[in-house]
Amino acid sequence: MSNDQEIVTSKPLKPKGRTELGDVTPHNIKQLKKLNSVVFPVSYNDKFYKDVLEVGELAKLAFYNDIVVGAVCCRIDQIEDTRRLYIMTLGCLAPYRRLAIGTVMLEHVLKCCEKDGNIDNVYLHVQVSNEGAIGFYKRFGFEIIETKKQYYKHIEPADAHVLQKTLRHKNSDICV
Ligand SMILES: CC(C)(COP(=O)(O)OP(=O)(O)OC[C@H]1O[C@@H](n2cnc3c(N)ncnc32)[C@H](O)[C@@H]1OP(=O)(O)O)[C@@H](O)C(=O)NCCC(=O)NCCS
Repeated sequence: MSNDQEIVTSKPLKPKGRTELGDVTPHNIKQLKKLNSVVFPVSYNDKFYKDVLEVGELAKLAFYNDIVVGAVCCRIDQIEDTRRLYIMTLGCLAPYRRLAIGTVMLEHVLKCCEKDGNIDNVYLHVQVSNEGAIGFYKRFGFEIIETKKQYYKHIEPADAHVLQKTLRHKNSDICV
């Protein structure tokens, strides 16, 4: 091989940018609505956005070089003594994917769980065909724990995987 030949073995460098998270407020909620309508095949109703304004740190917009390109919206589900964080939406505009913006949003959510100190697990639904999202969540230790047939009413495929990351294990009932 001559000296002027070069073998590129590493992944191409990603453009450097600044990712920041910001609060969702009545002032910018229209941006969240627009973003979700572009990123997700399901539409969310007024109640969803009303609730999002109440969850504080569990809803965030993601800015890449000051432009809104992503958002995450979660809620806490409590049934008896099990407390879970449900990721309702977490998404990023297609041209801005693989720039670690999803990572910044998910790490924020996991940090909120850590601060709360009382969350058993984090879970979400994902369309069975959404390999990108499944790959993304598996990278962070989520596992498919269930597949729900006909979960979605208006999109195909209608089946959804439930992805879950366990944060703390309940005391087992086994006596030693
Ligand atoms: C899922 C989603 C949020 C990931 O966001 P992102 O900003 O592109 O993710 P990141 O750049 O932080 O990726 C982190 C890692 O996750 C994995 N990953 C991300 N996208 C992936 C894909 N399409 N296929 C396989 N693995 C993927 C990779 O390991 C990646 O690291 P790498 O880029 O160094 O290889 C984004 O694809 C998206 O918005 N999808 C549409 C919305 C959606 O389906 N949301 C999930 C349901 S809530």
